[in-house]
Amino acid sequence: MFESQDPKIAQQRKDDHLRLALELPTVARDFFEDVRLVYHSLPELDLEDISLATSWAFHDHSFPFYINAMTGGSGKATHYNRQLAILAREHDLAIASGSVSAALKDPRTVESFQVIRQEHPQGFVLANLGAHQPLEQAQRAVDLLEANALQIHLNGPQEIVMPEGDRHFSQWLTNIEKIVQHLPVPVIVKEVGFGMSQETLQQLASVGVETVDLAGRGGTNFIDIENQRRKHPNFANLLDFGLSTPESLLESLPYHNQLDILASGGIQNVQQVVKSLALGAKGVGVAGHFLKHLDREGYEATHAYLQDWKETLRLSFLMLGCRNLQDLQQHPLVITGQLQEWARARGIDYQALAQRP
Ligand SMILES: Cc1cc2nc3c(=O)[nH]c(=O)nc-3n(C[C@H](O)[C@H](O)[C@H](O)COP(=O)(O)O)c2cc1C
Repeated sequence: MFESQDPKIAQQRKDDHLRLALELPTVARDFFEDVRLVYHSLPELDLEDISLATSWAFHDHSFPFYINAMTGGSGKATHYNRQLAILAREHDLAIASGSVSAALKDPRTVESFQVIRQEHPQGFVLANLGAHQPLEQAQRAVDLLEANALQIHLNGPQEIVMPEGDRHFSQWLTNIEKIVQHLPVPVIVKEVGFGMSQETLQQLASVGVETVDLAGRGGTNFIDIENQRRKHPNFANLLDFGLSTPESLLESLPYHNQLDILASGGIQNVQQVVKSLALGAKGVGVAGHFLKHLDREGYEATHAYLQDWKETLRLSFLMLGCRNLQDLQQHPLVITGQLQEWARARGIDYQALAQRP
């Protein structure tokens, strides 16, 4: 759980999450390797023609990637949130806080969240909260960060593996519906690394959700993190639980007219961003990879790294002959291997992707 009853336990957990997210190895497999973009040799474009702009959650964004929810609620969290927010400001990126629940319970931790707004005063900032939280708390979380939108996280598997975790999920959808209906800012429902199925997307759309972050398997794994925090029983056999990010993107194909799709989970390079966008994402979230880069290489190197991402993205669009996101989302791509097996088993029309535009 990103939330806790006891402020002391909550702070310890925040620090454990940061430490373990940094320590645990990155998943060796690239789940995107079964997504192949078709290359054409005559792009008929110049670099100046390219736009990376996108729009999601009723807002225009200059770049199609953002810094996803990570932390808040402890001293270390303040340090990382400050640096991440400065990076977001310098690069004109949207940024999400970690779960604001800690600050709603313990005013001493408010600073560790508000530092994001202080450092990124004009930016698109998302507050984050669990799906069981009532509307009033959602409003408080938004107010605290002067947030432009709220992320509601779905983290059932994490709760299950956490000894002190929640075991009551029956009211989540009803609660989400209430928040979506009454909160005056856009609501994004996000996973935390276990992906989303067509059935989940259908449920969310049916209660009025308009933006989702698929947050699939492939990067930070909260079953692994929580499993390291407990002694018994061991949940290591659940480590491959959930849908990968490309599987979730395929699952989302029928929902592109109803939902703004954001992709995240295991994003570690620009090619994965491009493939996610080509599969219909309007934005791509990165959490663990940027955190690790910042922790290991420092602020200046991460600043340069983000600049590299933007330039490489622009060049990738050019290489593919795509002037903008709309073009990229009509670009043909081929689904191979295990991902194709997944699509076939789930009745997803993956062949139409290869025949585009
Ligand atoms: C240290 C850390 C803390 C996180 N805390 C939150 C959180 O409070 N709320 C949330 O919705 N997601 C949280 N996440 C999950 C990320 O937003 C993201 O969904 C997940 O890490 C998968 O993306 P990644 O593979 O890029 O890390 C956290 C991730 C990390 C690394």
